[in-house]
Amino acid sequence: MNAVQRDLLQAPAFAFDGWSSAHLGTIERALSRWVVQDAPAGLGEAMRYAVLDGGKRLRPLLVMAASEAVGGTAVAALRAACAVELIHAYSLVHDDLPCMDNDVLRRGKATAHVKFGEARALLAGDALQALAFELLTPANEEVSDATQARLCRLLARAAGQQGMAGGQAIDLASIGRNLGEDQLRQMHRLKTGALLQGSVLMGAACGQLSAQAEEALSAYGAAIGLAFQVVDDVLDVTADSGTLGKTPGKDAAHGKPTYVSLLGLERSQQYAQELLLQARSALAASGLADTQALLALADMVVNRAH
Ligand code: IPE
Ligand code: IPE
Ligand code: MG
Ligand code: MG
Ligand code: MG
Repeated sequence: MNAVQRDLLQAPAFAFDGWSSAHLGTIERALSRWVVQDAPAGLGEAMRYAVLDGGKRLRPLLVMAASEAVGGTAVAALRAACAVELIHAYSLVHDDLPCMDNDVLRRGKATAHVKFGEARALLAGDALQALAFELLTPANEEVSDATQARLCRLLARAAGQQGMAGGQAIDLASIGRNLGEDQLRQMHRLKTGALLQGSVLMGAACGQLSAQAEEALSAYGAAIGLAFQVVDDVLDVTADSGTLGKTPGKDAAHGKPTYVSLLGLERSQQYAQELLLQARSALAASGLADTQALLALADMVVNRAH
């Protein structure tokens, strides 16, 4: 055994639970501070309802892990982490509306439009999207102008027509249609993958990194981003509503093309595992010293129960 192997064996296993619970506490407190109750006419209540008390906070954790891997600035990373989660929460509120997936259960609670009516839910989503960009552009000097601009560009691209919103448009236009594998992959990369990959790239934008590391993190983000939606498709078939916090079986009921409808359950599960291997090998090629949290998060994306 050489010295490197001996060090690896002696190194304490990465304590992911401790790492994630510390960060989750910080993220939760920051979200609660930034999403205020006193917006006009009950809007704040609807915004807080959509954001707080629920959600795995996977995207914020990815921002934090990527930022730490590149020695990023913690204040910028926390703002980026919360901004991504606000875009995600807004996308869920709109995704659940009757004009889209028409869902009544989200994160184990009534969906925002069931609780507050469609108009207020729609506006809460709009306001959350705007707030995300406000968080990225603090008026004081705590985040440099260049970093603010980079973060805004990455989030706008991930959320807009080349990302989440574009993918959602394809999703709705594909109801009742059989998509080929390339088309389905493209839809999933946009509607879900873009925001997960964007989370990784935003974390990376909080620090300095080589072109090699940036390319590797981008490949890692693409792999887990696609894997995330493949697993979401699988869970829609295999999980129960208590575990999922949303109503399962909706994809088939709505005639949505999914990985399960295209490849079947078993091959979809295998594909998610293949994507996990791709994510791991991208990290191995990054040249970054500390990728343990990113590795653990990739595992969580693929092997999660909800
Ligand atoms: C659900 O995302 C919506 C998709 C993009 C598939 P999550 O599974 O991350 O939802 P929360 O945030 O944990 O509720
Ligand atoms: C939603 O995909 C992706 C978003 C951009 C919100 P789904 O419609 O499959 O998400 P769930 O299953 O309702 O969470
Ligand atoms: Mg949907
Ligand atoms: Mg949905
Ligand atoms: Mg789904």
